[in-house]
Amino acid sequence: MCGIVGYIGFKDGLDVKEILLTGLEKLEYRGYDSAGICIYNDGVKIFKDEGRVAHLRQLVDMDVPSNLGIGHTRWATHGIPSQRNSHPHQCHTGRFTVVHNGVIENEIELREQYLEDYDFISDTDTEIIAALIEKFVAQGESASLAIRHVMGLLEGSYALGIMDAATPDKFYAAKNKSPLLVGVGKNFNMIGSDAMSIIKYTDEFIELHDEEFIVLSANEVAIYSILGTRVDRLSYKETLDASDTEKGVYPYYMLKEIDEQPFAIRRIVAEYFTENTYNINPEIVESLANTDRIYIVAAGTSMNAGFVGKQLFESIANIPTEVHIASEFVYNTPLISKRPLFIFLSQSGETADSRAVLVKIKKLGYKSLTITNVKGSTLSREADYTLLLYAGVEIAVASTKAYTSQIAVMAILAANEANWDAKVLKKELALIANVIESITDNKLLFKELADKYLIKRNCFYIGRHIDYYVAIEASLKLKEISYIQTEGFAAGELKHGTIALIENGTPVIAVISQENINLNTRSNIKEVKSRGAETIVISLKSLSAATDQIVIDDVFPVLAPLVTIVPTQLLAYYAALGRGLDIDKPRNLAKSVTVE
Ligand code: M6R
Repeated sequence: MCGIVGYIGFKDGLDVKEILLTGLEKLEYRGYDSAGICIYNDGVKIFKDEGRVAHLRQLVDMDVPSNLGIGHTRWATHGIPSQRNSHPHQCHTGRFTVVHNGVIENEIELREQYLEDYDFISDTDTEIIAALIEKFVAQGESASLAIRHVMGLLEGSYALGIMDAATPDKFYAAKNKSPLLVGVGKNFNMIGSDAMSIIKYTDEFIELHDEEFIVLSANEVAIYSILGTRVDRLSYKETLDASDTEKGVYPYYMLKEIDEQPFAIRRIVAEYFTENTYNINPEIVESLANTDRIYIVAAGTSMNAGFVGKQLFESIANIPTEVHIASEFVYNTPLISKRPLFIFLSQSGETADSRAVLVKIKKLGYKSLTITNVKGSTLSREADYTLLLYAGVEIAVASTKAYTSQIAVMAILAANEANWDAKVLKKELALIANVIESITDNKLLFKELADKYLIKRNCFYIGRHIDYYVAIEASLKLKEISYIQTEGFAAGELKHGTIALIENGTPVIAVISQENINLNTRSNIKEVKSRGAETIVISLKSLSAATDQIVIDDVFPVLAPLVTIVPTQLLAYYAALGRGLDIDKPRNLAKSVTVE
């Protein structure tokens, strides 16, 4: 959600506009509806509009040289997507120009208290930041002091890039709750919402903490606390390979990421096992051993992986486990056991809803573990422990390889706790990687099924036991990229109401991976069929019937979601492709949901 890039300096022959536009293209995956940049060339020049970065490229006057600029992709929160509401925003005098990621929660109070007579140009909360800085500078504060003064007034989340036309040899940044990184270069420095937007130019990064204020010039990065105290922090080398962020031969990142799942599982095996034993941080192992209840907190696909995790922790390791919707936890806080362990599942490690829970449970003194794909992300930094997914960058908004990787990591944690023979699990995960490959090798099947059946307005996924959890995730995948209204149901629940929605031609997709539910789920398939549904069955080989369209080689039943989810990802992909949709950037969605 929203993306920021900023640059100052003189990297050999590179022009700031190209750096900003390329950086914004790398941030497109986060979801946005408008884009803009401003550059300094004997004054500040702004180019911005509703629409894609490709459109912005056409607006930018590439002939104007510059060595300072900030850029932004906007995901509308305050005011419709429009040229007027696009960032950057300026104060009236034009001296201060601001880009902002986040939401200012007390904007109305600030308008009333400080800016009653101010004539706003946009409907955004961001414009008040520019206006307030201008106001405090007019009252005699230096630009730095005014920005920190404003930071102290803001409630909510912000990552800011700020240019002061009076001092074009530097620019400013600030952060609270929204992600922001510094990229350190030779003769230049940058800011970006993530490493991908910067990595093309430098692999040296400095992480930023909440309520920090940063001054960047071509040769220096100075970090300060909100009170103005200088903060010393070492830089680190980011290992992300610039080519990881390319689509290569694939038409869409989603298809590439579906295909990468076998590699991701093999990488997890390489990271979390030695030759014959598990390789997990002993403190995490001990925390699991000592807990009387696991609380998994997550959103979207990560939450759906959490449901599978609950099965794994309970059935393998015998640890009672609850799964909580992050955005509900704050209001519907459960009764907490005596020795809880909180597990935050998050591909991005930046989801604001999950972070709000982490902040809350930390205050209560509870232990936390983040399982994430992004090293150094907020949830990773702030939890007691982190386990990385090592899945490689996931760019498509629809999460695929993060889901299977999260399940694989939780399976390893549970199995270790239960003293499963490491060699056995290692071998099974290697087999699972091969099985996934055999599914993804057969893409034509999924294209044909999607073209034939997934052409209606509604669709249902059904399953029982662990297959029900797969049905929920499968339905999220299909609905978010194809816009087909899809629900995932516990197959036994259908006849308690939802079966009323089945009519001629309604697609119903059933998942069958457990022996003890095979017959019952098949009865439910007959029930919907006799009411006109078109059914697709995904089953494990030993449980399959001759008419099942998607039959998968057997794996350990408890690990079946790692393979049964893959056909549903491909069905979603081809359903969206058949509809001619923008698969990697579905409407209204953002990859990284950084506002609550
Ligand atoms: O980065 P996270 O895993 O915390 O993100 C959580 C959800 O926003 C995310 O899984 C979302 O539901 C995806 N679009 C699903 O494909």
